[in-house]
Amino acid sequence: MITHLAEVGSTNDWLLARAADLPDGHWVITDRQTAGRGRRGRVWNDGSGNFMGSVLVRADGPVQQLSFVAALALHDALAGITGQGARFALKWPNDVLLDANKCSGILLERQGDALVIGIGVNLAHHPDGTERPATSLAAAGMPVPTPRDLLTHLVATFSHWRGQWAEQGFAPIRTAWLARAAGVGSRIVARLGNESPEGLFAGLADDGALLMRLDDGSTRAIHAGEVFAL
Ligand code: BTN
Repeated sequence: MITHLAEVGSTNDWLLARAADLPDGHWVITDRQTAGRGRRGRVWNDGSGNFMGSVLVRADGPVQQLSFVAALALHDALAGITGQGARFALKWPNDVLLDANKCSGILLERQGDALVIGIGVNLAHHPDGTERPATSLAAAGMPVPTPRDLLTHLVATFSHWRGQWAEQGFAPIRTAWLARAAGVGSRIVARLGNESPEGLFAGLADDGALLMRLDDGSTRAIHAGEVFAL
């Protein structure tokens, strides 16, 4: 159920390569990652005390919603392990913020009927010079759990929220995600490559798109891109 590696290129790659042979719910974590990937082509190599792990999921239906299930689970695991849940918040689509700075990342990748959800968390340290400010639990003055301790919490919270999703669909996930989200109702800009619409962060659509209330009163669904507070 859990594989703990000393070093690997990418925990997502490790699971994707074994997806046909491993059961649903298999987790892999590693102490060091040398060819890790982030969203939007970014590199996510890491080591020495940070969390790098992935879980294999076989599920039918709108599996992109599991991105929100994973973010919720990670939020609740960090809140539970630190006892300081009020300092963590969610940012669309699936970042967990600590004191408004990025402390984790989630990357979903699919291969056939297998979905791999990869999670990285800055526990002991964080990168400098990132596009948006990053932090870690250590930098925020919190006690630093071991990756294995975090995994224990995460296995439980992921199982809880995945169960809610399987039984009741996206509605409870959307409600819980929005209750933990930073800046609902506040002004944001979406950077979409060729345009940068501005408006109010108005919620989440059924497919997980971010809903933006534009100044002309219409609502626009943002399916991909980066969103920034104004
Ligand atoms: C992001 O860009 O915010 C997502 C980062 C995801 C990183 C994690 S670390 C474990 C897993 N393996 C990878 O190669 N990437 C993910």
